[in-house]
Amino acid sequence: DRRPLVDSHGRAIRYLRVSVTDRCDLRCRYCMAEQMTFLPRRALLQLEEIAIIAERFIARGVTKLRLSGGEPLVRRDVGQLIDRLGRHVGDGLEELTLTTNGTRLAEHAERLFAAGVRRVNVSMDSVDPDTFRFITRHGDVAQVIGGIRAARDAGLRVKVNAVALAGLNEDQIPSLLAWCANEGVDLSLIETMPLGAIDEDRVDRFVPLGRVFENLSTRFPLIRDTHRTGGPARYWRVNGTDTRLGLISPLTANFCDGCNRVRLTTDGKLYSCLGHDDQVDLKAALRSGGVEAVDDAIDAALLAKPRRHDFRIGAGAAPAVERHMSVTGG
Ligand code: GTP
Ligand code: 5AD
Ligand code: SF4
Repeated sequence: DRRPLVDSHGRAIRYLRVSVTDRCDLRCRYCMAEQMTFLPRRALLQLEEIAIIAERFIARGVTKLRLSGGEPLVRRDVGQLIDRLGRHVGDGLEELTLTTNGTRLAEHAERLFAAGVRRVNVSMDSVDPDTFRFITRHGDVAQVIGGIRAARDAGLRVKVNAVALAGLNEDQIPSLLAWCANEGVDLSLIETMPLGAIDEDRVDRFVPLGRVFENLSTRFPLIRDTHRTGGPARYWRVNGTDTRLGLISPLTANFCDGCNRVRLTTDGKLYSCLGHDDQVDLKAALRSGGVEAVDDAIDAALLAKPRRHDFRIGAGAAPAVERHMSVTGG
């Protein structure tokens, strides 16, 4: 039998993130350049191959699977993949979930619930239409709000993800939290990370979340919440509501010691850390040697998993990692 999924620093891997496409219908300024070159379609894993690889991880102890992108719901027939993976929920898999930009969530919400998804994270950095349009370059916030409400009404717990950006949405974070509490959804705030060339200066936009939290504490009754999801956020709750506030602070409060995750890209590479280029080629392994070879490659990736990222604030304009967040799915 195979050795358990434990890396050389003793961390058990229970969370697989899968980028099902590097494409997206939006162009958020902190994530992508206006002009992006995407992977050629022939380089992609077929949905069937994604399922086979994900099922190997489930068989070896992964309990949490997240589909992301790019925008996962722009991949054709992604519903079939979700249906298939959903059959493992409750049988090895504890959670199947998605991170989505929400533009197509309304049309998918009921099917997601039927497949076994119980929770989705929706990236929405502002509820103000002009700010949202500016940050995403193309987005219509009404569409995303419609997606959030449809998801909630279909029985999914929704968490809004917002990257804190100085001079763009920082001043609106209190109103975003008020909106989330009013809608009965959660909010996670994220520090911007230096991945991929964009057309903007990330250093000038960087906001340490401690500053945001201090500001929020003066306006909302925030109490510490020990809830954990297996993701990197630390949670508070808006007292008197069900709304949780999550803080994801990779730059100011490193969480790598508790890392439990690896990432599969849409072209079949397994990245052992978001902040490094270490990878193994699971597509090549699967096509040449089947699941045995996939297992060997997974073992090799875990042995080489870095202890932590080296992201730094203000380390100049060059990104720490050249690949965009959309390739590894965040
Ligand atoms: P939950 O299951 O709700 O906890 O979600 P999650 O935080 O695991 O996933 P999500 O896709 O919503 O990611 C939110 C933010 O956390 C994104 O900016 C991710 O890039 C970031 N993130 C997730 N995992 C890691 C990680 O291992 N390292 C770093 N540096 N950032 C991460
Ligand atoms: N830094 C931090 N978060 C990012 N995301 C995309 N790019 C970055 C970045 N450079 C977020 C998206 C989405 C999640 C998967 O990652 O907004 O919510
Ligand atoms: Fe894990 Fe790397 Fe993320 Fe740190 S940066 S939490 S080591 S994946």
